[in-house]
Amino acid sequence: MSLTLQNLSKSYPIRDGELTVLRDVNLTMQPGDALAILGPSGSGKSTLLYLLGTLERPTAGAYKLGDQEPFSLSDAELAHFRNRSIGFVFQDHHLLPQCSVLENVLIPTLADGGDSYEARARELLARVGLAGRLDHRPAELSGGERQRVAVARALIHKPLLVLADEPTGNLDRKTAQTVGQLLVEMHQQEKTMLIVVTHSVELARTLPKQLEMLDGALAPWCGGQA
Ligand SMILES: Nc1ncnc2c1ncn2[C@@H]1O[C@H](COP(=O)(O)OP(=O)(O)OP(=O)(O)O)[C@@H](O)[C@H]1O
Ligand SMILES: [Mg+2]
Repeated sequence: MSLTLQNLSKSYPIRDGELTVLRDVNLTMQPGDALAILGPSGSGKSTLLYLLGTLERPTAGAYKLGDQEPFSLSDAELAHFRNRSIGFVFQDHHLLPQCSVLENVLIPTLADGGDSYEARARELLARVGLAGRLDHRPAELSGGERQRVAVARALIHKPLLVLADEPTGNLDRKTAQTVGQLLVEMHQQEKTMLIVVTHSVELARTLPKQLEMLDGALAPWCGGQA
């Protein structure tokens, strides 16, 4: 159940031609692998995560996740596949303000009757240290707690792949460390594939492998400041 990207490219039409954001990106991962992607602002990191998350379609190239080629699916099939197979953690938690912590974690399961997932949601929330906050609304949580809910929500379906875009970007340094470590630990326990985009060298170093996005292509990361 691996991940393969072959010569993935993405261009956007612009007024005077075409803007190439990603060019011939190649990547292979196995279950249990985790990867940090660093790189300058505007280099294409979020664009790559959007493509891996199947939220955007590439201009060229092949993507295989598990036994599926997601971009060969219809929009409805793709939405189902994405919901089941890919978990997202964004910089901003994207929790629904009117729903409780427990309800927020169950949202990805609503399409197939959330009830049978409640035990798993409670277990995940206990593992991220929020067993005592199940009935809180997002506004009644700290920033770090909100990101921990987002981590639990991303894992509810035991996805093949977890994608995180600056997951600690809005947190102070100490909270960022805790949330970063939690993300890595949960990924190890769940044996997902994990890709974290970050400007934080500290967070990148908590992952076993780092790559750098430079002008739309993935390159080895040489350390130092992102
Ligand atoms: N819909 C779009 N149309 C045209 N250009 C776009 C579009 N989306 C992104 N871009 C361009 O693609 C480039 C890469 O954007 P992207 O968001 O992937 O960068 P990033 O590496 O995530 O940067 P940051 O670190 O600031 O988040 C940018 O120059 C951006 O202007
Ligand atoms: Mg970005």
